[in-house]
Amino acid sequence: MPIIQTEGLTKRYTGGLRSESILAVDDISFEVESGQVFGFLGPNGSGKTTTIGMLLGIISPTAGSFRLFGGQGHREILAARQRIGATLEYPNFYPYLSCRDNLRLVARVKGRSDKDVDVALDVVGLAQRRKTRFKACSLGMKQRLAIGATLLGDPDLIILDEPANGLDPAGQREIRGVIRRLAEQGKTIFLSSHILHDVERVCTHVAIIQKGKLLLQAGVAEVTSQRPMIALRSDGDPEALRTAAAGFPGVRSIDVRQDTVLVEVGEGEASALNRFLVEGGIPVAHVTIERPTLESVFMELTSESTGFGSVM
Ligand SMILES: Nc1ncnc2c1ncn2[C@@H]1O[C@H](COP(=O)(O)OP(=O)(O)OP(=O)(O)O)[C@@H](O)[C@H]1O
Ligand SMILES: [Mg+2]
Repeated sequence: MPIIQTEGLTKRYTGGLRSESILAVDDISFEVESGQVFGFLGPNGSGKTTTIGMLLGIISPTAGSFRLFGGQGHREILAARQRIGATLEYPNFYPYLSCRDNLRLVARVKGRSDKDVDVALDVVGLAQRRKTRFKACSLGMKQRLAIGATLLGDPDLIILDEPANGLDPAGQREIRGVIRRLAEQGKTIFLSSHILHDVERVCTHVAIIQKGKLLLQAGVAEVTSQRPMIALRSDGDPEALRTAAAGFPGVRSIDVRQDTVLVEVGEGEASALNRFLVEGGIPVAHVTIERPTLESVFMELTSESTGFGSVM
């Protein structure tokens, strides 16, 4: 049973200051299964927060439907939302209270113990910094404290909207560590991000959204293992290597990037290609297999400028 399942989910914003309406989420259908770390990926303004807002009941869909934990009716959705922990907005806590005291307040509301607070602090890597006042926390610590607060509800599904937004590489790494620990505990995680390489490192599954449209949903391993390229380098002219490699039966595509010739052939044909070249008198100095990154797959999916460039 999928934990999240959307069908034709659509949101059109109308009215407001702008006269024209905006189709923020356009007929999207996807499934998140139990135990997945699901990356919801898209550039700024692609509809990520709107989608999350609909799942959480903050924004009402214009069309389409969704199920949470298999339930679709009003009551079932309300009950399902009790099993969700979400960080949506900029983390907001009492500035003069410590990390631990802030979480203790949350724990009171949720009927949890101080021991639960210490466990949550440990999971988000703030046990050593528990006495630091919120106002003295780095942005990364604030983000992790917000995740810690959602854990006090003991959620089965954790929804994180841009958890690494604005963080430096060290902060991003800490968030990845938290996500991995939560995944190990069996939590299902749905996170939105515009940072492609971040998603690739931590997610098991991914959906790519652009201008409200879903371009792809797949397992990360599935995406990055498709169409491996054989990268060949010789000490001589790459153009000569290219011409020779183009004569190999079964070449699907061929490209030269600086001194490297990239050849797309069938699975397991790297050594046959190498032999073919050597037998043809073309010495190959170096053979490696290059797997596509999420970024290269995304770039191939859409020819337009994506808005991802600035963060890579
Ligand atoms: N309340 C609103 N009223 C009108 N338009 C909105 C509203 N909220 C969002 N939009 C528009 O809907 C589109 C999708 O916005 P959304 O915030 O869902 O994108 P996002 O993928 O979360 O972007 P970001 O990466 O900037 O957070 C954008 O064009 C945005 O300007
Ligand atoms: Mg957003």
